[in-house]
Amino acid sequence: MTETAATGEEGALAGKPTSVSRTTLSHIMTAGDTNLLGTVHGGVIMKLVDDAAGAVAGRHSGGPAVTASMDEMAFLEPVRVGDLVHVKAQVNWTGRSSMEVGVRVLAERWNESTPATQVGSAYLVFAAVDADGTPRPVPPVVPETERDRRRYQEAQIRRTHRLARRRAIMELRERRAAEGLDDA
Ligand SMILES: CC(C)(COP(=O)(O)OP(=O)(O)OC[C@H]1O[C@@H](n2cnc3c(N)ncnc32)[C@H](O)[C@@H]1OP(=O)(O)O)[C@@H](O)C(=O)NCCC(=O)NCCS
Repeated sequence: MTETAATGEEGALAGKPTSVSRTTLSHIMTAGDTNLLGTVHGGVIMKLVDDAAGAVAGRHSGGPAVTASMDEMAFLEPVRVGDLVHVKAQVNWTGRSSMEVGVRVLAERWNESTPATQVGSAYLVFAAVDADGTPRPVPPVVPETERDRRRYQEAQIRRTHRLARRRAIMELRERRAAEGLDDA
């Protein structure tokens, strides 16, 4: 598979700067968001992460995009009722039809002027799709700052590892099937 450079080797689509689709989604946590311990449920944060990343992927690709994977979701600090949560997302990297979206989750007390702290982070891969759900090409992302360029390079490393892991698992399954090992 050929990896598409940010300069737009695909030719057809013009590059889009990172800042064009960068998005922040903010939400106040309420009692309905808690787990049995009384802090905010991880799934509530994951939903916000997916929502923010989906908005970014849709804006960057100019149409529908679906979540293909979510990885390296890290919960760094508990989130509490009354926290104002900010979910910041941007396109880190683009391939032919897929985009890696990086997300940082910050929390601050809703009624205090204390600085927000980072409480989580995640990387998601979205695939841009047409009306039939078939993957369609995306514009190459154009990193604008040194931080964007570092994120682009790190995303390429994650992409390489995702493909290698998937290939290794498929090969293992094929080997086991060829040996007649059935775990169904
Ligand atoms: C994601 C989906 C569109 C991929 O379709 P596909 O037929 O496998 O198409 P492809 O193999 O061409 O993959 C399309 C792109 O997505 C990437 N991709 C597919 N599965 C992936 C995965 N699990 N992790 C990371 N990237 C993935 C491919 O590498 C490819 O990237 P590229 O075009 O930039 O090289 C398809 O699996 C799908 O519709 N999944 C359900 C998505 C969904 O409903 N999400 C919401 C959760 S309920």
